Amino acid sequence: MSEMHPTTQCIHGGYNPGEHNHAANVPIYLTSTFEFDSAEACAKAFAGEPEPGQTHFYSRMSNPTNEILEKRLALLEHADAAAVFGSGMGAIAGVFWTFLKQGSVIISSNRVYGCTHALLSHQLTKFGVTVEFVDFTDLKKVEEVCAKYPEISMIYGETVQNPSNDIIDIEALSKISKAHHSKLVIDNTFATPLGCNPLDFGADIVIHSATKYLIGGLCIAGCVMGSFADIAQIKSVGLKDCTGAVLDPVAAFMMLNQIETLDLRVRCMSDNATKLALFLQNHKKIKTVIATGLESHPQFELCKKYLRIPNGLITIYVNGGFNECCQIMNKFKLALRAVSLGKTHTLVNHPASMTHSSYTDDEKAESGISQNMIRISVGCEDISDIIKDFEQALEETNWKAQKKDSQ
Ligand SMILES: Cc1ncc(COP(=O)(O)O)c(C=O)c1O
Repeated sequence: MSEMHPTTQCIHGGYNPGEHNHAANVPIYLTSTFEFDSAEACAKAFAGEPEPGQTHFYSRMSNPTNEILEKRLALLEHADAAAVFGSGMGAIAGVFWTFLKQGSVIISSNRVYGCTHALLSHQLTKFGVTVEFVDFTDLKKVEEVCAKYPEISMIYGETVQNPSNDIIDIEALSKISKAHHSKLVIDNTFATPLGCNPLDFGADIVIHSATKYLIGGLCIAGCVMGSFADIAQIKSVGLKDCTGAVLDPVAAFMMLNQIETLDLRVRCMSDNATKLALFLQNHKKIKTVIATGLESHPQFELCKKYLRIPNGLITIYVNGGFNECCQIMNKFKLALRAVSLGKTHTLVNHPASMTHSSYTDDEKAESGISQNMIRISVGCEDISDIIKDFEQALEETNWKAQKKDSQ
């Protein structure tokens, strides 16, 4: 299966109908526990040496439906193995709990999802973990901060950063990480496994908020991909013992089905995003448009290197501030005012007051999360309807556009 095209892996990966009564759809094993043929077989399974057909014993450790999904996800991310979680935050927390301890140092990008930032800055620090936030687009700074510490446990970033839509240089970060014997952990949610495979550029572990493109917003889910050894440790420590953030097999079934159309959805959102970005770029009420499909993206060379498919997000800076953003957002008739991304519906979010409201004012300023920023997750509606909705929302607002200039 690993030699097949990712589009095909999305549909067939990890599943052999012949092993499941020839059911075309993956069966849902809706059970918490599994019976053993004998007490001896039971003891062997607990000792990590299960007899054939007796590998599952409790669904917080493993479940046959989840296992098929994990095989598919590992294929898509070019990994040995995967672990599925009940949420993206569960996956992130599971990785942190597994590889960090009191006294550990983690170097994180200063532009990460708001709750990841809150977990790093307010929660992990309570347990004696040192967290350094650095601008990952400035590699010299990353090297300088790393040089301060004799030992670094983890370097953490997002392929395409949330909410600024800029790119990090994974290969360069991997070199820094390896020089410090650290683990490079990449949240690849914004890029999707079809757009980028961070492990191919030297990352050690890849995380997704599967809630987004993978499950298309139907429910909350997460996953982690990496080597056999790392995933075994994450399952045993981060998932089983620390977070217990297990994925329900019904959600696993939903994700398996949604992944079948991942390629179609991601390409449609990507095309729509580039077309909408071109329209927004010429609008007088918008100062700056950051879209990975546009040559005007400040890191277009990195976009081409890391993204096989430009992502479906656009970050815009309007000619105004919070009030002007509210005025535009209140006028949408089609786009939903909602957090999250990767849904077939177009979503608009004001990061400073919504997804990234937990950042302090200083942290927002350092990370470029300004009051005039709106993040758009472009959906699969017909592009003419999406553009019409943005056109009317921008025209309807009663503030006067100033001269177009930089953000
Ligand atoms: C980049 C990124 N990582 C992680 C998360 C957290 O995922 P979840 O909401 O599935 O817990 C989010 C949620 O928006 C996100 O955008």
